[in-house]
Amino acid sequence: MSDDKKIIDDFISTLSHEIRTPLTSIKGFAQTINDNYDNLSDEQKKRFLTIIQEQSQRLINLVENVLSVAKLESATPDTVLKEINLKKIVEDTVEIIKVKYKERNFIITTSKNLQTSLSDFDKLQQILVNIIENACKYSPSNTPVKINIKEVKDKNIIEIEDEGGGIEEKYISKLFDKFYRIGNVLTNKNQGSGLGLYIAKNLADKIDAKIDVESSTDKKNHYTKFIIEIPVFDINKIAKRAVENGGV
Ligand SMILES: Nc1ncnc2c1ncn2[C@@H]1O[C@H](COP(=O)(O)OP(=O)(O)OP(=O)(O)O)[C@@H](O)[C@H]1O
Ligand SMILES: [Mg+2]
Repeated sequence: MSDDKKIIDDFISTLSHEIRTPLTSIKGFAQTINDNYDNLSDEQKKRFLTIIQEQSQRLINLVENVLSVAKLESATPDTVLKEINLKKIVEDTVEIIKVKYKERNFIITTSKNLQTSLSDFDKLQQILVNIIENACKYSPSNTPVKINIKEVKDKNIIEIEDEGGGIEEKYISKLFDKFYRIGNVLTNKNQGSGLGLYIAKNLADKIDAKIDVESSTDKKNHYTKFIIEIPVFDINKIAKRAVENGGV
């Protein structure tokens, strides 16, 4: 199968599953409540309404992901590079993730003399959301998600590490492909569209950041670590770029 044909096939199977499954359950539970309104207990009604709410959210996530891809692929330049405090952006992002993963233990550590980064706040935050959400989604809820911010040779690094089962070496290079998910669409117990890392990688390219993955499936030491490398704020580089672009 050609690469293009494979992407279209993955697209159709992911989207049809990710749209059909939530819609079927929304319709089914709404109908059950409607048909049996007087016979259901308040507790049952509440449970069914919660399912409807969760499944609607799943559809919203999918629509947002597909729209983010469309935006990535449009030619409009919308990157705004500014000074960014990595500790603050990580803390803000973890607050957002905590709304969904309330019980999760997030351990954030930061090196002392970190230089200011140069990045686009919204894009970097979207990258962080996608990677930290994955760490929560693909590791047991009673294990911590560790986020370490440090500096290595004029670059700032954010490492996001989870204690899930890890990713086999053979899958690592495919993780950032559009619609790629490890395992079968129908048997996968975690929901998703396979777009999160594709979006993260494309956003990283726009802000001169790099994303690497380190993982082990060893029974005694299994983990996944995503490493995001972000340029530091360097006034000389910015001035040089401005001159090259024809203005200061
Ligand atoms: N921390 C992780 N540990 C184990 N597997 C992971 C991890 N992060 C990503 N993966 C694997 O990579 C695949 C692609 O991730 P990606 O975020 O692109 O899509 P997704 O999480 O399936 O869906 P969504 O579009 O909702 O993010 C996942 O389906 C999962 O199999
Ligand atoms: Mg994801």
